[in-house]
Amino acid sequence: MHRTRRTSLPYLWNIGLAALSCAVSHLLRRPIVWGLPTSVMIEPTNRCNLRCPLCPTGAGTLTRPVGDMSLTDFQKILDAIGPQLRRIYLWNQGEPLLNSALPEMVYFAHQRGICTVTSTNGQLLAREDNARQLVQSQLDALIVSVDGLTPETYEVYRVGGKLQAVVSGMQILRHQREILGAKRPKIILQWLPMKHNEAELAQLEAKALEWGADSVEVKTAQIYEPEQAERFLPRELRLSRYRHQRGRWELRRKRDSCRRLWFSCQIDWDGTVVPCCFDKDETLVMGNIYQRPFSEIWRGKEYQTFRRLLLNRGRVLDLCCNCTEGLETLYVSRHRLPALPARKRGTSLATL
Ligand SMILES: C[S@@+](CC[C@H](N)C(=O)[O-])C[C@H]1O[C@@H](n2cnc3c(N)ncnc32)[C@H](O)[C@@H]1O
Ligand code: SF4
Repeated sequence: MHRTRRTSLPYLWNIGLAALSCAVSHLLRRPIVWGLPTSVMIEPTNRCNLRCPLCPTGAGTLTRPVGDMSLTDFQKILDAIGPQLRRIYLWNQGEPLLNSALPEMVYFAHQRGICTVTSTNGQLLAREDNARQLVQSQLDALIVSVDGLTPETYEVYRVGGKLQAVVSGMQILRHQREILGAKRPKIILQWLPMKHNEAELAQLEAKALEWGADSVEVKTAQIYEPEQAERFLPRELRLSRYRHQRGRWELRRKRDSCRRLWFSCQIDWDGTVVPCCFDKDETLVMGNIYQRPFSEIWRGKEYQTFRRLLLNRGRVLDLCCNCTEGLETLYVSRHRLPALPARKRGTSLATL
């Protein structure tokens, strides 16, 4: 059995360096970077099979090229980032399950002791081979986006998707886990509360349990334009990351500083490095990981200029003004569901 990086010396040493340099930078208001990322977001693809209206991919507003990352390029990325890496979030824009190399990427990372999480709209999960490969890949957790308990409410946001496909997908994944005697991936049902579905929230847990999820996450929704608030933001303030103040929508933030620039970054399907997943259309390119050593990019002029800007002038760029770093309510609630005997949860498979 391999040792996980959680306890490995490179990981512990690096997290100490990253934390210390982040603290010193904030104190001196000067970017000092001794550590490397402890986690990264990697985009397997920015193609998608749905058209969610508040998502730049779904709304068709992304201007950057569309494509998939290959397994070889993924392997190059892990080599380039280094042995301190502990966690990979395998998504950004697009639907990760559309990239058939995803299970092999996960398995490659797993063999290096790196924990992996991905997020899916679940439309392709109901294909048994997809579900089986995900279990065999040793993926740690799968976030399944479901924002409606009936086909009608589900399809308001997940345009082009079918609720029945996601529900069957979760049940098939659970079944595959049981057949293969695996405990993972943990199935996290993620719900975005919006105006059209907030009344269903009271039944969410019971449904998630019935559908085979291990836990539920209620995550507040992001909007891009004030006009979207009226249509999508929930009426209940506690379910929103925004408040309406002085005639405009503002994020409810408790901390203004950004620590992400010392601990993580976003790598898009073509190797482009951007500071975080809020730079959805690559407005702040830090470099390309296939063209320059990652440590050079991480400490390079572009990154340091951006860190200096944030340390001294705060959130002046659009992407920083609408990001979740330091929010009061990114997750309204996150909790595990009670464990049920495996067979009870699997029974509804026969009726699919
Ligand atoms: C862009 S999606 C890509 C992954 C996958 N296609 C999915 O939908 O789960 C990344 C994450 O953003 C979430 N998401 C989509 N629209 C959102 C919004 N308006 N506000 C906050 N999160 C959103 C999705 O549910 C998902 O967890
Ligand atoms: S399924 Fe995910 S990536 Fe696709 S449009 Fe919806 S939120 Fe965006």
